Amino acid sequence: MAKVLVIGSGGREHALAWKFSQSPLVEEVFVAPGNVGMTDVATCVKIGVNDFDALIQFVKAEEIDLTFVGPEVPLVNGIVDEFEKEGLTIFGPRKNAAIIEGSKRFSKDIMKKYGIPTANYESFEDYNSANAYLTKQSFPIVLKADGLAAGKGVVIAKTLEEAQHELYEMMCNQKFSTAGSQLVIEEYLEGEEFSLLAFVNGTNVYPMQIAQDHKRAFDRDEGLNTGGMGAYTPVTHLSNDLVDEAMDKIMQPMAKAMVQEDRSYCGILYGGFMATKDGVKTIEFNCRFGDPETEVILQALQGDLYQIVMDVLHQKKPVYSFSNKTYLGVVMAAKGYPEHSNKGARIDGIDQQAPSILHMGTAFDTDHYTINGGRVLFVSGEGDTIEEAYQKAYQLVESIHCDDLFYRHDIGHRALK
Ligand code: AMP
Ligand code: GLY
Repeated sequence: MAKVLVIGSGGREHALAWKFSQSPLVEEVFVAPGNVGMTDVATCVKIGVNDFDALIQFVKAEEIDLTFVGPEVPLVNGIVDEFEKEGLTIFGPRKNAAIIEGSKRFSKDIMKKYGIPTANYESFEDYNSANAYLTKQSFPIVLKADGLAAGKGVVIAKTLEEAQHELYEMMCNQKFSTAGSQLVIEEYLEGEEFSLLAFVNGTNVYPMQIAQDHKRAFDRDEGLNTGGMGAYTPVTHLSNDLVDEAMDKIMQPMAKAMVQEDRSYCGILYGGFMATKDGVKTIEFNCRFGDPETEVILQALQGDLYQIVMDVLHQKKPVYSFSNKTYLGVVMAAKGYPEHSNKGARIDGIDQQAPSILHMGTAFDTDHYTINGGRVLFVSGEGDTIEEAYQKAYQLVESIHCDDLFYRHDIGHRALK
């Protein structure tokens, strides 16, 4: 029987820990550092995601068979390389491959080099040339901080004035700290977004069912971009042809390109796509499972996650399928998110466990949960139809009480209308 360590602390990691705990091959699941809400399925270990030495020491002492990395930061910092040096089994891309999320510029340049469809763009390192470029563009336009910014480093500017203001904030006022000192300015794409995630090892790409996230903070896609406010899967109003196109023209060529660049990719590859009138175009690549997409995708995944990951690592074709149910989940976030969030408020009514309620950022105080992060809970429903999944999810949301939480009321609206 195997022992698994999941690295990370949010809803995605709670979902991963839950899914690993379902495997008959797995005897124990640990999460580092995890959060108190995950103890229904895992043991939390107080080690930070970037403390590689302590993580390695723990994995050796506990004789962990597989370490699975949830978030991008340790991947971009080279956790996989460090584990491999010690001969430990870990699933995720090495540092030289995780850069596809770590640098927007790298990811745009490799797409350009290999003819992978994406929005037209230019990269900049200094404010004056970026500003001069902006004055010659049409609007809306998209400004992206080069480095990691927790899903928040993107601004869609509707006018030149707005773009110039944001440019100044990003490049001169360090709005996204050093992530914004280099910047990509790209064409605004119109269409419908979807996320396609795949298990990848080298040129082998095994796709999962697509999901749709909701990036804006408020109903009707208003407010700031967030890490994601809700998700559902499958997305039946987007045709299989679009998914095939994304696989054939983007995911497969990208995996191949990484091998050709001597940056062979092993891990979860997340493609964020726009179905435009000129075909599917890439918005971004991430080097890990999406959050909150994972929380619904893993509920739909029929298969043993431990076996799947081991097979992918050993270059064997993994065996899995997807349920014919729809899963829809709502993020309950702290008021003020994504700009700021107050911690500590009491949450009542959390009576269910994983996978219906996944903890993104909670703490526990004597006899109740409290807010301990920007995104706090992921609450989901399962249904034969999306309408049923929606109703069940929101019924559960309404049974949770906390004045300091907010949520979107329209998760799934593109499929429901
Ligand atoms: P990213 O961090 O690159 O995924 O961007 C965050 C969100 O901004 C995406 O999920 C889209 O909703 C939006 N976005 C990013 N790039 C573009 C683009 N070129 N055109 C339209 N929307 C975009
Ligand atoms: N849900 C978007 C992301 O994980 O980046």
